[in-house]
Amino acid sequence: MFRDITTLLQDPIGLRNTIEKIVARYRNEKIDKVVGIESRGFIIAAPVAYALGAGFVPVRKQGKLPSATIGCDYQLEYGHDRVEIHVDAVNENDRVLLIDDLIATGGTMEAALKLMLDMKAEVIECCFVINLPTVGGAERLQKQGYKLYSLCSFEE
Ligand code: PRP
Ligand code: MG
Repeated sequence: MFRDITTLLQDPIGLRNTIEKIVARYRNEKIDKVVGIESRGFIIAAPVAYALGAGFVPVRKQGKLPSATIGCDYQLEYGHDRVEIHVDAVNENDRVLLIDDLIATGGTMEAALKLMLDMKAEVIECCFVINLPTVGGAERLQKQGYKLYSLCSFEE
């Protein structure tokens, strides 16, 4: 079963409700930067950053960012991948909201969290549209002490 957000995004009310529900949760959190994870995370993170009056920061796959970066490798089901961020994109103690479309194994978000740790940012929460709890990634990251929030879960 492949879960994706394209049918949600193409629905005008679905798109609006998705962004507004996330914005409402963080409106009073004084978020400095919303960090979106390439590529599907960008779609959600950019309008949320705009509405919160925060900056938008991309976490990208290897070799895509033009300036100096720091990176983190992570495991995929088959092989590995790497995410990178500009070294000056997040400041020490910035209040950061991390956003991706979906959490499955949690490997992608875990790599982004390591970048935030390196940059000494204050991570307020990791936000997803979809959680796949049976894969176990969200529970694993919660056990490490991270705060996670998702708009919906699919149990099977
Ligand atoms: C998908 C999804 C999440 C990640 C979740 O991205 O958009 O980013 O996988 O999986 P995980 O929790 O097991 O790490 P993908 O790497 O397929 O790339 P895309 O967003 O560019 O489509
Ligand atoms: Mg992705």
